[in-house]
Amino acid sequence: MSIVLSGMRPTGKLHLGNLYGALQNWINLQDKYKCYYFVADWHALTTGFSESKEIYDNTLEMIIDWLAFGLDPQKATLFVQSLVKEHAELFLLLSMITPVGKLERVPSYKDQIAQLGESRTANYGFLGYPVLMSADIIIYKANYVPVGIDQLAHLEFTREMVRSINHLVQKEVFIEPEPLLSEFPKILGTDGRKMSKSYDNAIYLADSEEQTAQKIKNMFTDPRRIRKTDPGVPKECGVFMLHNIFSDSQVCNEIEASCTNASIGCTDCKNMLIKNLNNKLRPIREKRKHLKENKSNEIIENIKESSKIASSAAKVSLESAKEAIFGNYLG
Ligand code: TRP
Ligand code: SF4
Repeated sequence: MSIVLSGMRPTGKLHLGNLYGALQNWINLQDKYKCYYFVADWHALTTGFSESKEIYDNTLEMIIDWLAFGLDPQKATLFVQSLVKEHAELFLLLSMITPVGKLERVPSYKDQIAQLGESRTANYGFLGYPVLMSADIIIYKANYVPVGIDQLAHLEFTREMVRSINHLVQKEVFIEPEPLLSEFPKILGTDGRKMSKSYDNAIYLADSEEQTAQKIKNMFTDPRRIRKTDPGVPKECGVFMLHNIFSDSQVCNEIEASCTNASIGCTDCKNMLIKNLNNKLRPIREKRKHLKENKSNEIIENIKESSKIASSAAKVSLESAKEAIFGNYLG
């Protein structure tokens, strides 16, 4: 059976963009493949060492969202990167064959420096981000890696890494992973930009129904609709994009027609969304609340256990790589 692997940095509670983008994709794959999904806590440190104390809480909140939304630990192996030390050993070995210039040319390297500033990114670990990511992936001999477009360059880097190491040791110790880009609905935040924690425009699973209603009421709509009599273009409106996820197709068709001919106002349109979105999320939110209040300790214990399973799997390819590199060695 093919192997799927993906990771998320522990940024804390997940918003609708994370849930209906990446996570829904992970859930769809868990029935078809052998899946490994993990919390990339070391990756979080590469740009956020000053907030290192938040990583534990963020990890727990994120795993609770995973479970409430439908990721199933009976089907997929869930783990925490820092609990599987084999990733670190392979990262170290891979770093010996990685040209520094190549790392400096990875597109996200310059982009992130521009976005986050020198002070957060001027460290050796951040430069090595793609090397650690390569180790995460190839140590499980993953065939497929579900990621967003922003991670494609890292996947290409990983594929080249596999070719280099296999060539150097003259053995096929690792395999080239392929990215799995899924078609997921575009989700805009309340300000009309891409939904993102850093823009402060996101709706969270952990939000209450009242908070959700308030956010949707304040949401940007199609700017063409200054007055109720101005026709709109629903495809460009973030409210309509959410209707596409949370309202049935008949309602979506009706809204599309009545927005285009200006027979519905944005307030009514938003009220329908508030009702449908809260209805659909209610059972998931209740599950989240239950897990958070009653199962937090159990969840932590379980992920520690399943990290041991990941560790056993990771050991196999790490050992064969070491054998190929060193020949007879100390172990
Ligand atoms: N870099 C990924 C992100 O920010 C997280 C990640 C770390 C990852 N290691 C990975 C994703 C391995 C896929 C495979 O989204
Ligand atoms: Fe957006 Fe709905 Fe207003 Fe049309 S009516 S612009 S879809 S909020």
